[in-house]
Amino acid sequence: MFRYIAKRSLSTINNPFTEHNYDVIVIGAGGAGLRATMGLAEKGYNVACISKLFPTRSHTVAAQGGINAALGNITKDDWKWHFYDTVKGSDWLGDQDAIQYMCREAPKVVLELEGYGLPFSRTNEGKIYQRAFGGQSLDYGKGGQAYRTACAADRTGHAMLHTLYGNSLKYDAKFFIEYFALELLKNKSNDCIGALVYNMEDGTYHKFNAKNTILATGGYGRCYFSATSAHTCTGDGNAMCLRSGIPLQDPEFIQFHPTGVYGAGVLLTEGCRGEGGFLINSEGERFMERYAPSAKDLASRDVVSRSMTMEINQGRGVGKDKDHILLQLNHLSKDILEERLPGISETAKIFSGVDVTVDPVPVIPTVHYNMGGIPTNWKGQVISPNKDNENEIVKGLWAAGEAACSSVHGANRLGANSLLDIVVFGKACSENIYDINKPGEIIEKCDNNDVNNIIQSYEKLLHRKGTKNVGELRLELQKVMQKHAGVFRNNECNIA
Ligand code: FUM
Repeated sequence: MFRYIAKRSLSTINNPFTEHNYDVIVIGAGGAGLRATMGLAEKGYNVACISKLFPTRSHTVAAQGGINAALGNITKDDWKWHFYDTVKGSDWLGDQDAIQYMCREAPKVVLELEGYGLPFSRTNEGKIYQRAFGGQSLDYGKGGQAYRTACAADRTGHAMLHTLYGNSLKYDAKFFIEYFALELLKNKSNDCIGALVYNMEDGTYHKFNAKNTILATGGYGRCYFSATSAHTCTGDGNAMCLRSGIPLQDPEFIQFHPTGVYGAGVLLTEGCRGEGGFLINSEGERFMERYAPSAKDLASRDVVSRSMTMEINQGRGVGKDKDHILLQLNHLSKDILEERLPGISETAKIFSGVDVTVDPVPVIPTVHYNMGGIPTNWKGQVISPNKDNENEIVKGLWAAGEAACSSVHGANRLGANSLLDIVVFGKACSENIYDINKPGEIIEKCDNNDVNNIIQSYEKLLHRKGTKNVGELRLELQKVMQKHAGVFRNNECNIA
């Protein structure tokens, strides 16, 4: 009730909202949103970043293993080999123009991050340390395992998020924190001209007029019951696009990370296997040798998750229900565990009670990433195909990061290509906006009657008195997804 009264007292007489004007608004303050915000503020745009969370609590903070770039710090490397691995890892379904752009930009953006102060782990010579990760090879698959994943121990996302937020604050970016974006605002030509936003603290509505809007709202892992994604990964930007008539691309391509902690769903980085850990079944067998004789535990994630599921289905799972697998790390030296994997040692202890120096950790393939999302081209512009033009751009609307689908990951993302995607395409949005609109151009405003109508429909929803609770409905949906849209799917889904 207090919130409702506060909203009314802050509202203007004629319109129940506050109006704001910006060259650009960025919705979301994870890695993609912050990289875009920082780039725009640096170029002199009047930019606002709108986030339902305090920026350093965004889900990027949970990324562990690292960011791929052919820096060549451990062995010789080449961005074209990274490109080849990414195309192959995508099950040949990725957009090769976008993949080329991402892999070619990678060394540049990682060195930029180093310059912004990201505290990367180091080799003995002081170079950025790079570890082995799944699906990464040298010489187009012929040269063995690549060491391409630059990292800050197993807390790379945490280091990146703090670095980008700190740098965004250096420039004049405005942050609207704990503001929830509700709807895209469009003009008669269907161009995006801003967004309607809700202040979660006091219940007020805010109309943001903007020449350009960037959606960087993250994934929708929480449509499943168990996921490595934070509870905040609810696909808000994707839903806004759907409600505004923009279809999503490839939403069925859901990635299962092989090593979520059994029962808790919390991530244990692929870096565990990159540093020498391996998976074993109930017979103590390193079964990945059978499924992927050369890459073994560092095959791409879809291959490892399928293999684990097959082992379980064939009765070689561990535990009383034989329904999970073990990740063995206790053969690794104390130095490696302490220096390269301190976070997961703590996570394993807290969430499974296991001391990784003594026992293997119970793990299971867990929902981790959405390859699909808001369709964009390699520049970050949102595409809304129609019957006359399959590449039709929605003017004024951009997307980056897990919310977006520039299709760099096709049907399966390689580990450590996500932190890369968010900085490359967050940056691309800021640079490509500069090619189209300069700071200070005239901003079109959406009709206030239209905005009032949207607010009325939200007010009705907020005060509806139904018998079904939203939380119960969500739980029901999550359980259906968990049961019927898992690692293996076929036509016989039999939803009751
Ligand atoms: O295993 C991991 O550290 C996850 C990395 C990623 O999803 O890119």
